[in-house]
Amino acid sequence: MRLAQIFVVVATAALVAVPAGATPARPADAPAYSSIVPGTVLVNADRRAGESLSGPWHYSVDPYKDGMADFHGKPLDVTRGRGSDVNVEAAMKADPDVFFEYDLARAPVGPVPSAWIAYAPELRYYNGLMWYQKSFDTALIKSGQRVFLRFAAADYKTMVYLNGHRVGEHEGGFTPFSFDVTHLLREKNNNLVVAVDSTRTPDSVPTQVTDWETYGGLIRDVTLVATPETYVDDDFIRLTTDGLIKADVALDGPTKAGQAVEVSVPALKLSLKGTTDADGHVSLSVRAPKDLKRWSPDTPTLYDVSVKAGSDVLTDRIGFRTIEVRGTQIILNGQPIFLRGICLHEEEFGPNPSRRITPEASRALLSEIKTGLHGNYVRLSHYPHSEITTRLADEMGLLVWSEVPVYWAVKFDNPDTLKVAQRMMAENILRDRNRASVIIWSVANETPISDARNSFLTALAREAKALDGTRLVSAALLTGKKTVDGHIDITIDDPLIPELDVMAVNTYNGWYGNDKIADVPATVWHSSFNKPLILSEFGAASLYGVRDPAREGRFTEDYQAKYYKNTLAMADRIPFLAGLSPWILKDFRSPRRQNIWQQGWNRKGVVSENGERKMAFFVLSDYYAKMAAKQ
Ligand code: GCU
Repeated sequence: MRLAQIFVVVATAALVAVPAGATPARPADAPAYSSIVPGTVLVNADRRAGESLSGPWHYSVDPYKDGMADFHGKPLDVTRGRGSDVNVEAAMKADPDVFFEYDLARAPVGPVPSAWIAYAPELRYYNGLMWYQKSFDTALIKSGQRVFLRFAAADYKTMVYLNGHRVGEHEGGFTPFSFDVTHLLREKNNNLVVAVDSTRTPDSVPTQVTDWETYGGLIRDVTLVATPETYVDDDFIRLTTDGLIKADVALDGPTKAGQAVEVSVPALKLSLKGTTDADGHVSLSVRAPKDLKRWSPDTPTLYDVSVKAGSDVLTDRIGFRTIEVRGTQIILNGQPIFLRGICLHEEEFGPNPSRRITPEASRALLSEIKTGLHGNYVRLSHYPHSEITTRLADEMGLLVWSEVPVYWAVKFDNPDTLKVAQRMMAENILRDRNRASVIIWSVANETPISDARNSFLTALAREAKALDGTRLVSAALLTGKKTVDGHIDITIDDPLIPELDVMAVNTYNGWYGNDKIADVPATVWHSSFNKPLILSEFGAASLYGVRDPAREGRFTEDYQAKYYKNTLAMADRIPFLAGLSPWILKDFRSPRRQNIWQQGWNRKGVVSENGERKMAFFVLSDYYAKMAAKQ
């Protein structure tokens, strides 16, 4: 049966199931449209027409939050203060008696995107409220066109004011958010004021206690995104394990209901057509053609896909692959695969990183994994990384573990904290569920076990599944250990595991604690779960260039290399092991690390912050090269 006939059969079958004239009901397995993320998804926004607002912005520190409350702490109406549309310079010229304590439009200038700690030496350790200001003209004001103001990410809490109006706010430092500003914009001299507060609290996600630098500010691109009045707000297009290409499309706008939608993949001569329901949603599917080239790390094939609805045409580059688990194996495109990876923080190479992740900066990091280490996998820890990186992983062929920063002792019994975590995870999944490289959504890292934590993480894991039933859900867990017959004995028994598809454990025997590094290879691991295990972290620190072959003391490259040799020997003996992501590719900034070798850097990288490869790099690279040769 030819492809077109298959489509007709499938479509007819779907139509037969509902009264003629109505649109087919959404299939049971259609992904949820998250109730958590109010407003727009604006999927694929980075590929839409618009105008960039990245570049020079004014910035003005406000450590005492003077712009938010008066000297007695009474909250201010920000639209009458720093968020107003007043031009202070002009106002003071017009009336020498007028009084302002601030003047954002004449404040110092710094680059966006970038964390502000790189703006000036006195800001290196600034953690608090920052006011940004940008004046701009726009050519996007057209009838029948909507304009959204999109932040690819801002760390941590953001409040936005445009031309003296409060636009909205957002909590969370690593996922995109947008506001419809169609009716607030003017052609000339728009006055955009953005307040970003990097302060974390015991109730935030993460809390104020982490092992990485806080890179506060507008850390990713700011853009004006133009769409037709009714546009494709969300789409999810994927290959399923039962051999179908499925497309779920959600429109937003006045004519979203009863709208004809076409999803096409020209290279596969595919065209999926349907009509949206009253909510502007439609689910389409077709048997995948035999000549479909599946995406994989070795063959990262991406197809041009377009989604047409009314006057909107949204294009994307999508890889089609399947991921599942089978017993203790991870199965990619029907075949078992071992994840040869490493962890990565979002920090560019260089002595003064500011989280400015350009395509070049991201490629430099991912190339060290793919080419340098012969890797096929990267754990993007401990928060959603830039969409630049996940698109690059699609292009280069790296499988991705993507995670939200539910890290260590989050306030699991605070329902508001859960809402922030759920929204963060939904924003992450809705941004990246068309990225073939992403195979795992992780809901947590090293969280202390309690009933509150178990129900918090169960809610997150189930929300991830509801939004995306095609990927695996995991979490980086801790385990206990004991000594049995003279060897280290570890049992994996975290109560969260029944909610996970893949178990993942961070293990540091031979670095933290009093285990002898010589005892590590003989460690025995037990699991009563018929699930794959990833060693999601293991590592030891060294300062590049410090060698001591005689003593192999801590913090030397020799010790770190020996630690890797012994831990990899241990890994070889775990029968249900399906992947490795040692901690970590590159030395990274952490205020918790202040001994003479680290001085504000966590030095468990296998390369230094300047990209200098340590002895351990070659141990891991050789190990993965041999493994790749056998696959
Ligand atoms: C922890 C944690 C990391 C931390 C690392 C370390 O497991 O997940 O964020 O940096 O260990 O101790 O270096």
